[in-house]
Parts: sequence; C-alpha cells; structure tokens
Amino acid sequence: MGDPPRQGDVYVMREGCSPPGPTLATVRLVKIHEYQGKQIFAKYGVPVPKGYPAFSVAEAETAAKKLATETGSPVVVVKAQIHAGGRGKGGGVKVAKGGASEAKVLAEAILGMQLVTHQTGPEGQKVKRLYIEQGLEMVAEMYLGMVVDRDSRRIAFMASTEGGVEIEKVAEETPEKILTVYVDPIVGLSAFQARELAFGLGLMTYGKETVAKFVRLMSALYEAFTKEDCSLLEVNPLAILKNGDVVALDAKVTFDDNASFRHKAWSDLQDKDEEDPIELEAAQAGLNYVSLDGNVGCLVNGAGLAMATMDIIKHAGRAHGVAPANFLDVGGGATQEQVTKAFSMILKSPKVKAIFVNIFGGIMKCDVIANGVVAAAKELGLKVPLVVRLEGTNVELGRKILSESGLAIQAATTMADGAKKIVDAVTGGAK
Ligand SMILES: Nc1ncnc2c1ncn2[C@@H]1O[C@H](COP(=O)(O)OP(=O)(O)O)[C@@H](O)[C@H]1O
Ligand SMILES: [Mg+2]
Repeated sequence: MGDPPRQGDVYVMREGCSPPGPTLATVRLVKIHEYQGKQIFAKYGVPVPKGYPAFSVAEAETAAKKLATETGSPVVVVKAQIHAGGRGKGGGVKVAKGGASEAKVLAEAILGMQLVTHQTGPEGQKVKRLYIEQGLEMVAEMYLGMVVDRDSRRIAFMASTEGGVEIEKVAEETPEKILTVYVDPIVGLSAFQARELAFGLGLMTYGKETVAKFVRLMSALYEAFTKEDCSLLEVNPLAILKNGDVVALDAKVTFDDNASFRHKAWSDLQDKDEEDPIELEAAQAGLNYVSLDGNVGCLVNGAGLAMATMDIIKHAGRAHGVAPANFLDVGGGATQEQVTKAFSMILKSPKVKAIFVNIFGGIMKCDVIANGVVAAAKELGLKVPLVVRLEGTNVELGRKILSESGLAIQAATTMADGAKKIVDAVTGGAK
C-alpha cells in the first residue's frame, strides 16, 4: 500500500478537474480537534460518547456536572485538545471517577500544560482547549482507520484488534495484525467488506448485533469521509462496550485542502494556535507555501519547477545535510507585493541558511521577481547567501535590477549550477 498523503506532497490532478485549476496541486492537510471530529461523526450517525468542549476550568466543571445529569453517571474523561495523538500516554487524558470536583482538579492540571507526545516533538504543544466527555467502560479497544491509498487509487479501511496503542508500532512490528479493505469508488463500501473486517476483528464473540453495529458504523464513516473530503480518518480506540455497542472514543480527522473551495466551514474549524505561523501568513497572502525541515529557502515560480528545484537541492546536498526549507510556488500571476511577502517570509525563517531563487519567467516577469526580492531584502536585510537563477520574460531588466541593488547575489546559470552554489553557500564550500 502507498503512503497516505503527507503535508507538502505534490501530485498531478486529473484533467478536467473542478474547479479548473493548476495541473499540479500541493497537499495541504487541514487538521481539526478530536471534539470537532466527533461532531462530524455524530452528524453522520457514528456513535460517540456525549461531551462538551471547554476553554476554561469553570467551563470544564460545568460540562462535567451537565454530563453527570445527562448520563446518570459521575464518571467523565478530561481530554486535552491538541492536533497530535498519544495524548493519553503524555498525561493529557485523565478519567475523573469522582465527578465534577475531580474533573475540575484535572482540568486545572491539563489546561495550559505543555503536552509532549510522540507526535508533538520534544517541545510539546500548549493545551488551550479541553474536551469533557462521558466516561465509558469498554470490554475491548480496536483500531479503525481510513486513508486515500494512492497505489490502489481507492479509500482503504484498516482495522486491527491492537487498538488504543500506537498503530505505527503495530504496522511496523506485526503488520499481519492490520486488516485492510479497499473500497471501489463507483460501488461504494459493500456490506460484505465491512463484515470481512468485523469477522477479522473477532467481533462475532460479542454477538451478531455487535457485528451489525460495526457494519453500520463503517458505512457512516465512509459517508463522512467522502462527503467531507477527508484525507485521513482514524478511530483509535474504537470501543466495544459491555452491552455490545460500538463507539468511537477518539477521532482524528484530516481534510484535503484541495477541496476547501466547497467547504467554507473549514476556516471556522481551524485552530490558529496549532498551525505553522508562516504557513498561515502565506495562506493569507494567497501563496502556495509549505514549511519543510531543511535549511535552503526556495522562491520558485510554477509547482513543477518548485518540485524540480527541491529535488536538485536534495540531490546535491544529500551528503552535506542541505535540504529545502520550504516549498513555494509564487505562481504566474503574483504581484510584486506577493513576491515581496514571499521573500520576507523566507528571510524571517531562522532555519534558512541560504536562499535559492529559481525563476523561469513565462507569464511571470523577471523584473517583478527582482523588485520583490530587492524590496524585501532592503526592509529586512539579507543575512544569508542568495543564489539567483533568472530566465525568460524581461530577464535583462530583472538582472539589471538585481545587480544595481547592491545585494550580494551569486548568479547561477543552470539548475545544477544553482544547486551546487547553494550547497557551497550552506557548507562554506567544505567538502
Ligand atoms: N470517553 C472515554 N471513556 C473511557 N475511556 C476513554 C474515553 N476516551 C478515551 N479513553 C481512554 O483513554 C485513552 C486515550 O484517549 P484517546 O482519545 O485515544 O487519546 P490519544 O490517542 O491521543 O492518547 C483511550 O485509549 C481510552 O482507553
Ligand atoms: Mg487515540
């Protein structure tokens, strides 16, 4: 099976796509919180525990009281809402058996904590929202996930009896414990496919009704996945309760940004505290920008050239720890203000140790790029080496603007020449 789409992946869209757009699209993943995912689940009929989001300790206490009245049980779970999994292990999910007063104490401890999980990195993520949820007693915890599988070009359902734990570990160490079915996009999910997973998970031991409930849950999830344009959906754990009910105890939902034009509600679901600030700034400026882990800032026009530029930097720099710090396609119709903005963002990034401007001016004019680069560099100062390769429309004017700017620029002739100069710039020419 192919890897699921990741942040920054670029792929070719099929022709005649709607709306008509670029033939190359960048995968930008729109992440939401567990409680928002569960609200979507509920809309499609996927069973979830009752719960309320809370932004303060007082709200958490009120929610716990409300749940106790509604469910007739004082047991609630206080759950940190951050865009990362593994919260339980990191101390971000705690059960309050003693009702609202205990929930209050837990909320005080969790709200504002710097939660570190295997997905946040060592710096962790500050908890600013909680979800107060009905505590359920389960007899088994399963895993159920969905991705767009690019090898089979289908939505794949994956299920495992090893729920509640890190599924990445199961996939690596005991892949035979993950069952997969691929859904035909024309036919949709067939009941027999859902039953195949149900039997594979051994749900018959909990009774025929549990199997039927699981089948209904899977078809509700399939509807949610397709209608909401998800790129990933995970329920871990999917709980089997004593009475045979099947309930989603956790929800991880990621949307495919390429469908954002038909989901105006997504912008309301976005939590700016969880997003990369540079990417937010870029999105506001209408720029196609994705942050990456490397150290070379790239300003390129055209997604294809941007990809090729990233490839050649990686190729030339692989032995020297040199790699692209971002994907950026300024596009053909960018204004000088947008170019200035794009270059400023690269200049401001502390991880950038050198910048490669690689422009093939077709619709985009080289003088617009040159003016944008000079304006941003004048405002913020250019403290790292800059390698520029300009070709195409108004190239002479573009080069003149750059050479008269007084900026220390290394001109590159070919892509390979540019990549070599960039690697030398980062490593100081050391081999
Ligand atoms: N509503 C709930 N009732 C009972 N136990 C829960 C509830 N929600 C979560 N848990 C328990 O806490 C664990 C971690 O919660 P989960 O939502 O999966 O967060 P994460 O995956 O980030 O650790 C679950 O595996 C489950 O055992
Ligand atoms: Mg989980």
